[in-house]
Amino acid sequence: MRVLIVGSGGREHALAWKLAGSPQLEKLFCAPGNPGIARVAENIAIEAEDLKCLTDWAVREKIDLVVVGPEMPLVLGLADSLRAKGIKVFGPGKDGALLEGSKVWAKRNMKKWGIPTAEFAVFDNFSEARHHLSRFYGGPVVIKADGLAAGKGVIVASGPAEAEQALYDILIGRAFGPAGDRVIIEQCLSGEEVSVLALCDGKELVMLPSAQDHKAIGENDRGPNTGGMGAYSPAPIYSEALALKTRQDVFLPLLNGLREAKIDFRGVIYAGLMVSAEQLNVLEFNVRFGDPETQAILPRLKSDLLPLLVAAAAGDFNQSAVEWLADPAVCVVMASMGYPGPYEKGFAISGIAEAEAAGGGSVAVFQAGTALTNNQVVTAGGRVLGVTAWDKELPGAVAKAYQAVEAIKYEGAYYRRDIAYRAL
Ligand SMILES: Nc1ncnc2c1ncn2[C@@H]1O[C@H](COP(=O)(O)OP(=O)(O)O)[C@@H](O)[C@H]1O
Ligand SMILES: [Mg+2]
Repeated sequence: MRVLIVGSGGREHALAWKLAGSPQLEKLFCAPGNPGIARVAENIAIEAEDLKCLTDWAVREKIDLVVVGPEMPLVLGLADSLRAKGIKVFGPGKDGALLEGSKVWAKRNMKKWGIPTAEFAVFDNFSEARHHLSRFYGGPVVIKADGLAAGKGVIVASGPAEAEQALYDILIGRAFGPAGDRVIIEQCLSGEEVSVLALCDGKELVMLPSAQDHKAIGENDRGPNTGGMGAYSPAPIYSEALALKTRQDVFLPLLNGLREAKIDFRGVIYAGLMVSAEQLNVLEFNVRFGDPETQAILPRLKSDLLPLLVAAAAGDFNQSAVEWLADPAVCVVMASMGYPGPYEKGFAISGIAEAEAAGGGSVAVFQAGTALTNNQVVTAGGRVLGVTAWDKELPGAVAKAYQAVEAIKYEGAYYRRDIAYRAL
């Protein structure tokens, strides 16, 4: 089978790493990929959002399956463009991608389909939105831009002044451009967050093990939010009972709703959940694998990933059971000093091969923001590497991951030292 992965981050490296081991694989490509991905796939110099070039190239190269990593090409309609040429795609069309591409669409449908989520209201007018804040009696409130905002469109405001500032920035200041044409004002929930992913073939689901990520840049979850500074799988709070409840209360109504809306969703649905003793609520849906959750989930998959993705893309899951390792996995993200603010790039990275070798087959270093200069891997982004380890017990996995992190050197390396602490 000839497979193309679209994207260039740590998530795509983890997907490539796993797919490369499939006996059904003939040849793996990645567009545009990164130097880590180049070790297991052939990189193609086409950007992930260049729909026309990607489609033409996939037709010419007789690609059997395209796996789309990031959300933007899905929202732009990459899957539709490829399917129109008869190519199988793992990833929803424009219609299904609205689940992530429009938070207003997603929230309104959650309400309609009976999926538990925080109370909310939608505004496109600043003074009406500001007026609505009085209902929160000076307490915390959440403001969300409707469209894609690279993970920066949600502001959890501690009170009305901060909330009003966020409304102003989005609706008047146009901080996110048209993605902020509309805002959601939402009840602030408390509890613990869990990510639950399910593969979907349009009719049925295969639920993946849970994961938890660390969004904040600083230890103890302090400081500004990032794309994710680390993750671990499974999440200890995600009990058997909670898994059942998530299936019953979230995924099955979602599946029914999608069917009702005539959306044939073939890809992965990521539910961001807020869990407390009393309640389970959906914070958001994403329509692609999480980054860095994927780096912590895929090493635990014993089964071959390729036939699963093909079956989802073909709209036909075969009933074969999917097997998982019981061993927990941890991914520690190594970033560039300064991220998520401005940072320098181009520093030589050493020690990746040594870190993997010392891990004895249960350490994988997934590359994200890296580039190749004169045959040397250098830093090229905010999140540089996802150093992942797995072991019989979580403390062992954490220790192994940090051992690997310490073996890797580059100027301005920054990482959190407390990844998975909540689970320990
Ligand atoms: N209703 C809410 N109550 C409390 N926290 C929230 C709420 N909605 C979102 N958050 C917080 O904001 C983060 C980002 O929100 P999310 O809906 O996941 O959007 P995105 O990932 O697109 O930025 C969540 O991970 C959560 O920590
Ligand atoms: Mg989120």
